[in-house]
Amino acid sequence: MADFSKRLARMLDELGRVTDEPGQLTRTFLSPAMRRANQLVAGWMKEAGLKVRVDSVGNLIGRLESKNRGAKTLLLGSHLDTVRDAGKYDGPLGVLLPIVTLGELKRRGIKLPFSVEVLGFSEEEGVRFASAYLGSKGYCGKLRAKDLVMRDAGGVSVREVIERWNGLTSRRSGKRVGVNALHLKAAHTRSELMGYVEVHIEQGPVLEAKNLAVGVISAIAGQSRFKLTWTGKAGHAGTTPMALRRDALSGAAEFALAAEKLARGTAGLVITIGSLTTSPGVANVIPGQVVHTLDVRHAKDSVRRAALFKLGRLAAAVIRKRGLKIVWQRTQDNRAMTCSPDLTAQLARSVSAVQGKSQALVSGAGHDGVVMSTLTLVAMLFVRCRDGLSHHPDEYASPKDLAVALRVLVDFLERLAKDYRR
Ligand code: GLV
Ligand code: MN
Ligand code: MN
Repeated sequence: MADFSKRLARMLDELGRVTDEPGQLTRTFLSPAMRRANQLVAGWMKEAGLKVRVDSVGNLIGRLESKNRGAKTLLLGSHLDTVRDAGKYDGPLGVLLPIVTLGELKRRGIKLPFSVEVLGFSEEEGVRFASAYLGSKGYCGKLRAKDLVMRDAGGVSVREVIERWNGLTSRRSGKRVGVNALHLKAAHTRSELMGYVEVHIEQGPVLEAKNLAVGVISAIAGQSRFKLTWTGKAGHAGTTPMALRRDALSGAAEFALAAEKLARGTAGLVITIGSLTTSPGVANVIPGQVVHTLDVRHAKDSVRRAALFKLGRLAAAVIRKRGLKIVWQRTQDNRAMTCSPDLTAQLARSVSAVQGKSQALVSGAGHDGVVMSTLTLVAMLFVRCRDGLSHHPDEYASPKDLAVALRVLVDFLERLAKDYRR
């Protein structure tokens, strides 16, 4: 497996150089770099014997067809988009590791009795539209009108981006030809599928603390995301006395600190304001408007909902006190998701066989599995990453740990094949 983990590490390096922003790794929904990433990964899929296609929302799909008539399909995958200034493992690992695994089975002449689809989702991070999972939603037939109308920082809607990607204009020969004409239905029915298995770096410190290379996950925390717009009054920075100001940024800042206090005081609750813009955005004008994101997560939906209620009250108190206005736009809302106990037990069996013991973890990060669970059973394998660091260019998983994950996936597929034949 050492050769294979080295090959996998090289592939991760090569894909990690495919970026929209020179000097750092950034790939967002249907960007030029995403097209190049799809081409690169498609080549590796073909080498592993997969038949490749790209669906209408840019998901890369490599299929290994079983010769058995009526065979079910196992889905393996993750996302190929990244955050801004990302590491190279978050997402790509779960696409490339299955490709290397299937290549290894092909080399050994092992034929699986079921079909396999390796999925490289086009969007999971929610960077371009502040709303995540566009790729897996497209694959599962869950893209809704409210998703299609969201706009990026340049004012382009999801609908327009998808139409452009597919070479469609909104009008052709006088007739509307657009996203409605595309196939946005689920790629499979539930009965065709065996489940979805995703390999991902842990993005946290638990496996490192337990000195384990891999673990399985039992659940993914629920998450809500919003875009908040605070409106006050712009004015001269030199002449407007402090007492007469309606400064939107000061209001947003007061809210941010209150939100941080709420999260610090509630076990397991995490709240993040990750992006903020002020307008007009110059040094000598009081900020008249502030737009920022808000990301709220907890493993228990009831705690997350209670936190959202409290945040609403905190913001209301700030606008009353400061004479501001606020508009909340919900961009994402996902309940906590529980992995399939059966499929997870099967994965844990392989983890125990390879590593001696299995460890279950809860994921605070979101994953494509959240949406995939609306279509099929889901299990996830986590791989230790250095210092638990992720969403950062220093993200790192060692080739030794990658080798363990490869052995687990090979073992899992072999056992699944045995069970399937019975
Ligand atoms: C995805 O990585 C997320 O959890 O934000
Ligand atoms: Mn990810
Ligand atoms: Mn991520």
